[in-house]
Amino acid sequence: MNRHKIGFPTAGITGDAVLARLRELKSGDVPWRNGRMFGYIYHPGDREAKVIEQAYHMFCNENALNPSLFSSLRKLENETVAMVADLLHAGEDYAGNMTTGGSESILVAVKTARDWARKNKPHVMEPEIIAPVTIHPAFSKACALTGVRVRYAPTGDDKRVDVAEVEKMINRNTILITASAPCFPYGVIDPVEEMGVTALDNNLLFHVDCCMGGLMLPFLEDLGYQIPLFDFRVKGVTSISADVHKYGYAPKGASVILYRNSELRKHQYFVMSSWPGGLYALKTIGRDGYARMADAVMKTTEAMKSGIEAIPGLKIIAEPVMSVFAFTSEKHDIYRIGDELAKRGWNLDKLQFPSALHMTVSYHNTGHEDEFLAALKNAVAAVEGHKIQEVSSHVLISIVRTMSKLLPVKWFRKLTSGFTGSVNNPEKGTATTGAAAYGMMVAIDNRENVDEIMLNVLDKLYSL
Ligand SMILES: Cc1ncc(COP(=O)(O)O)c(C=O)c1O
Repeated sequence: MNRHKIGFPTAGITGDAVLARLRELKSGDVPWRNGRMFGYIYHPGDREAKVIEQAYHMFCNENALNPSLFSSLRKLENETVAMVADLLHAGEDYAGNMTTGGSESILVAVKTARDWARKNKPHVMEPEIIAPVTIHPAFSKACALTGVRVRYAPTGDDKRVDVAEVEKMINRNTILITASAPCFPYGVIDPVEEMGVTALDNNLLFHVDCCMGGLMLPFLEDLGYQIPLFDFRVKGVTSISADVHKYGYAPKGASVILYRNSELRKHQYFVMSSWPGGLYALKTIGRDGYARMADAVMKTTEAMKSGIEAIPGLKIIAEPVMSVFAFTSEKHDIYRIGDELAKRGWNLDKLQFPSALHMTVSYHNTGHEDEFLAALKNAVAAVEGHKIQEVSSHVLISIVRTMSKLLPVKWFRKLTSGFTGSVNNPEKGTATTGAAAYGMMVAIDNRENVDEIMLNVLDKLYSL
């Protein structure tokens, strides 16, 4: 194999050279300050960001591992957790920690449930959790790491989990039920109140994943939006994950895991590292500032949603509660529209089952709604007349699989984009992965094949 080799440097290089290299690498990234990227970036505006970045730099050498040496970090962590607990109506007995992100908060919540069950439900030999099909994959990862089985419950037409199905799935191995507020794909909140009753009736723990909504929904309530109860106000809820590095606008990675009481947290065992940026985002922006930003985000979201629905052939999936949603089309190839948008500098994630484009509208997107809708109209016009791709040929699929194994990822991307005839230039930072490649992924019935393709692609992405 022809591998590009980078040896360990013999002598150090100058700081200027290091910074020049970093700038060069960064110049290849997708630009986001133009408001054309959805998700990934949460930026509170330059004034707030400046303080947050200074706070971040002030503590980049200190180590949260030893709270007696660095009592500042412990205080910052405790204060951040307290503020989020206040926002999510935790009672006086609450306990919590900061982690490096939503996935880690979810990981410790699942581990806590497993160890709580070891003590309180000793008959459980093969612990299981029940999760809506729309739950974030971090739960599946957490279960794989902790040796817990995850079983998925279906959703109704409104994309919220069907509580009657959850109840049917409960058995003597069940330790935890879960819900999202809101779920990533469609932005809807599962019926948390009903599920709280289910959890109490069955003596189960109940985790609500508020990674997306934890620092947005409370401010929407302040603004007068009707939001169904989703936090510790619901009696059966025992833990909540809330990401400070999403709608808290803190630098990555900062998340909070909260438990209804410290007895539950004892099963968490180890405490995760924390980042002070979280606190300073909360303090700099404050409740009024967050409500102002939430208001601006919702106005942009509403404008984008109604603009999308006004374009013939496009449809929003489910009724999102906040600023996270997906749209699809029965008329056009939605992935092709995604590629056309990417060519125009707008980067939207792609979803499957059903094929859709995903949007997480955050503060840096505000004010860009007209530009976006104009680009979307152009993108739709560009695909007008193209039939929705019916990709069922296993010949094509096996070609993709072989290519993904043999070719460097740069070539793989270029070739898969070639199936659509779209020009895809990863070096210029266009994030499109190619409608045809996505179309094929969706068309492959055997999900193990898709997993294999994904693993091959990841393997290539993370090798030199
Ligand atoms: C609902 C939800 N839960 C969990 C996560 C995982 O968070 P992180 O990417 O910080 O690990 C995400 C990420 O988008 C999410 O949307």
